[in-house]
Amino acid sequence: MVKVTFLSSDGETEQHVEGAPGDNLLRLGQANGQPLEGTCEGQMACSTCHVIIDANWFDKLPPASEEEEDMLDLAAGARRTSRLSCQIDLTEQLDGLTVRIPGESRNMQGV
Ligand code: FES
Repeated sequence: MVKVTFLSSDGETEQHVEGAPGDNLLRLGQANGQPLEGTCEGQMACSTCHVIIDANWFDKLPPASEEEEDMLDLAAGARRTSRLSCQIDLTEQLDGLTVRIPGESRNMQGV
């Protein structure tokens, strides 16, 4: 199992979930009710799946492709450690991964 922690945009709520190697981070987040839209379903055409990776984990991820970097330039509230969650597949090395939902992300629960 690969444990992933999702932090809310204000950092106050943590959700610990478990995925399996090969699971996609966007799908895992959506399956657990995280407010990630992922409008283009992984086609790198929307950037609504944007998450901010914990600084300790950022360097452990495979680097972003040029296309992903281009989309991140357009993402609302992007940081140096931003990534598109649809481009991240879980591996055993990512056990413990922590990511935060960006502040500008719309909350589908309307809270
Ligand atoms: S789902 Fe659209 S860029 Fe990731």
